[in-house]
Amino acid sequence: MMVKHRHLLDFTGWTADELLALFDTTDVMAQVLQRTIKKVPALQGFTVSTLFFESSTRTRLSFERAARAQSADVISFAAGGSSLAKGESLKDTLRTIDAMQVDLYVVRHAAAGVPYQLARWTDAAIVNAGDGRRAHPTQALLDAYTFRTSFPGFDGFAGKKLAIIGDILHSRVARSNLELWTRLGATVALCGPATLLPRELEQPRLSLHHRLEPTLEGAQAVMALRLQQERMTSGLLPSLAEYRARYQLTEAVMALAHPNAIVMHPGPMNRDVEISSSLADSPRSVIERQVANGVPVRMAVLYTLLVGKK
Ligand code: CP
Repeated sequence: MMVKHRHLLDFTGWTADELLALFDTTDVMAQVLQRTIKKVPALQGFTVSTLFFESSTRTRLSFERAARAQSADVISFAAGGSSLAKGESLKDTLRTIDAMQVDLYVVRHAAAGVPYQLARWTDAAIVNAGDGRRAHPTQALLDAYTFRTSFPGFDGFAGKKLAIIGDILHSRVARSNLELWTRLGATVALCGPATLLPRELEQPRLSLHHRLEPTLEGAQAVMALRLQQERMTSGLLPSLAEYRARYQLTEAVMALAHPNAIVMHPGPMNRDVEISSSLADSPRSVIERQVANGVPVRMAVLYTLLVGKK
């Protein structure tokens, strides 16, 4: 399927059919990565720049892997060590890299809205790799793709339930998963303490909870979120011990979910804070599979935005 989108900033305007077509393209990319030579010439002649103003391990490396596996050239920018430290503005930074003929930028920034602003300043395509609390669409895509490929004979997202537990307030992953899974027909339950559970998220196919029991009931996918202590202003949690007691995802807590439910975490994890270390390493956990799926999912996104429109 040809898509009309120039950017992937969030899922606004993306239809369920377009999103499912991305998963079909991901299946093809996953096959490429099974070959002895894990490389195709699909993006030869294109240049992808990873533009990261905030730290990352998974997202930046998997985008770079995804670009190189399709023979694109990669220019990697990290704020630390760049001329931002000499006072160069965001716009001049973009214009400088643009002069090197970039076709697509993968952008992460601590401030919500930066990828949207850059999309107004460049003719290149933009993929949002996380902006503040707002959106992280490729993380949601790889989460949903991991769910879709975890059940043989998967029959679609309608009637399925995703439970997300933890620091919803600061989580772009929760917002993008909410947007994606409801668009695909699933329901989403969000759970956390009142200070970390913004009521303005309320919408159809979403339920908000402060207790684990109703959150997990019937859920086939259960995701723990990292407590984002770097974004935390003081006083949002009574104590870490109380948080653990009420919200930590453990093997015992998972008994409340669907018997076949998978356990996800976008990473990086605070082991034994939001998720017990033993559950994270248990057979129910698909956390490493999520990371692995990040590569073919991002290959599909790059391919679709750069070539799929033609
Ligand atoms: N999930 C995620 O975005 O991880 P990184 O911050 O390591 O990219």
